[in-house]
This record gives sequence, C-alpha cells and structure tokens, in this order.
Amino acid sequence: MSQSYNVAVVGATGAVGIEMIETLAKRNFPVKNLRLLASARSAGKKLAFKDEEIAVEELTHDSFKGVDIALFSAGGDISKEYAPSCVKAGAVMIDNSSAFRMDDKVPLVVPEANPEDVKWHQGIIANPNCSTIIMIVAVYPLHKAKGLKRLVAATYQATSGAGAKGMEEMLVQSRQLLDNEPIHPRVFAHRIGFNLIPHIDVFLDNMYTKEEMKMVNEGRKIMHHPNLKVSCTCVRVPIMRAHSEALNMEFDQEITPEEARAILSLAPGVTVVDDPANKRYPMPADASGMYDVLAGRIRQDVSRDDKRGLDMFISGDQLLKGAALNAVQIAELL
Ligand code: A2P
Repeated sequence: MSQSYNVAVVGATGAVGIEMIETLAKRNFPVKNLRLLASARSAGKKLAFKDEEIAVEELTHDSFKGVDIALFSAGGDISKEYAPSCVKAGAVMIDNSSAFRMDDKVPLVVPEANPEDVKWHQGIIANPNCSTIIMIVAVYPLHKAKGLKRLVAATYQATSGAGAKGMEEMLVQSRQLLDNEPIHPRVFAHRIGFNLIPHIDVFLDNMYTKEEMKMVNEGRKIMHHPNLKVSCTCVRVPIMRAHSEALNMEFDQEITPEEARAILSLAPGVTVVDDPANKRYPMPADASGMYDVLAGRIRQDVSRDDKRGLDMFISGDQLLKGAALNAVQIAELL
C-alpha cells in the first residue's frame, strides 16, 4: 500500500486555504487525515474535501500533534507564532507567508525551478510571493538556456492577493460605483473599482514597495542567481484572481522569439499562447482556474542593437500557481 499523510491547512477558510483543500483533492494527494484550522470565529464551520464534510477547528499550539505536513496561509504573524509548535510536533511547515522566505535556513521553492532545495529543509519550506512564482515559471527555462542578466517587470495583480476580503471589496465597490452609491475603501488604500493602485504592501526607504523588493530578492534566491538585476513596479488591478506581468529581459546570450517559444513550449507549468494574428495572447480571464502560467506577446526588444533582449507578457492564477498549487506541489516533492 502506498504511504499517506496527515495534512493540516492553517487558514483553511481563507481564499488560498479553500484552494489548498481543493487542490489536495483534485491532485489526489495521499491524505490520511485532513485537519482544517482557522480562527475561533470559524470553529465548527464545515468545509468539503472530496465527499467528506470536515469541521474547522480553532488553531492552537496543540493543533499539530500527529500532523505530517502543515500548509500555512493565514498571514505572516500567524506563521511566526505557530512555526515553533508546528516544527516541534514533527510536522513539515509549508508556509505561504513572507515570514521565512529570505531566512538562510529555509528553502524557497518553485518546483519547476529548484525542486532539489526541498532536501535541505529543517522543518520549514517557504512558498514564494505569488508574482515571483508566476514570473519564475516562465522565466527560469529561458534563464537556463541563455542566462538571464537583467529583468524589468510591471505587474497587474489581482485582488485575490489581498485575500477573500480584497476580492469582495472589488465586487461590492464596482456595483456601488455603477449605482452611484458612496464607497468606503478598507482593504486597499484607495478605491479599487475601475481603478489601478501602484501600491502593494508597504513603501521602503528606497521608494520601492516591499512587494516589489520580494520580486527582486526572492527571484535571486530561487534561481541561485545572486547577481540577477531586477527592477519592478507592482500594481493592483480590478481583477479577481489572476496576476499578469509585462517582462523585459536581457540575456547573456542572443535569443530570438522563435527560440524562446520553442523553449517555453517544452517547459513544465507553461502554456505558450502567442498568436497575435488570431488575437491570442495571455489574459487573466483565461488564466483564472488554470494550473499553467500563460506566456505570449514574445518579441525581440526593439530598443536594443543586439538580439539579447526579449519582451513577454504572462498571466497566471494567483490563488493556484501563485499560492495553493505551488504549496501542494512542494508537499508532493516531500
Ligand atoms: P477566519 O476565517 O477564521 O478569520 P484571507 O487571506 O482570505 O483573508 O484568509 C485568512 C485566513 O487566515 C482565514 O482562514 C482566517 O480564518 C485565518 N486567520 C486569521 N486570523 C487567524 C487567527 N488568529 N488564528 C487562526 N487563523 C486565522
């Protein structure tokens, strides 16, 4: 008989938690027992897993007894508070928050790029930032072939990145704006209905946001490429659940769009959608609900005199590849 595991989902009622439960079921992860954990507010609430209804329990420091793998997505403070009890109980923590990502003792893993890094974990494995994961899936195969030197990105990030409350705020506000009713931004710094907000996470001394610096630093750690140069502008857009990114890439070697399409069409986790004549290119509406990252609009950078630059547009589901799916793939590697 093949082995099965006791799995816990921390933050089970959240936007990512729900997708984690769904992804464990859809991918037939060998679950012996599933424990669903959230705040006291949700205790007793029932959630579906395959044909079962499982009651949510309140997260406590005793929640991890007998648990083999714990998927965390309840925010950085909860991750920091409960990591010691989780690890002490012998469970491997796969953490979707930013709490441990840049910790030297914690692997930061995108299974399509650095699966071997799970081997050196000491109890915690970090799931990267959602925009970083989506970028890495599409960029790593090109880097492996031609050596990525510098990347300039603009992101178009969905409201799901701010959790279920963010998605709800966008829907409610859009309706209120159409009905000429007053709006009250709570989750986002400004109105998100029919607007763009170039502000995700807090501003830092260098005038970048923390979200932008995650793209800079996490990409280097995942690709084992400490000298990679990245600059990024992260923008929240009124989209439900798929992030998009416009990427400008400079490589060590020459690379043509044809070569890039050929490399990406063989790469795991990527679907090339690049047929402008037939109006086919990546869009968040198409990427929503998909496991793969869509890559297209691949073209030679006309601002250069050589063939070492490419532009590309990508879209990927923030809740799936950007969070829940990547975490479950890490659990599969274990
Ligand atoms: P709850 O629904 O009980 O508040 P999202 O990112 O979509 O907002 O989801 C956040 C997740 O983190 C939810 O499952 C939420 O549970 C959970 N959470 C928030 N605060 C706590 C807490 N103090 N203890 C345990 N889980 C928490």
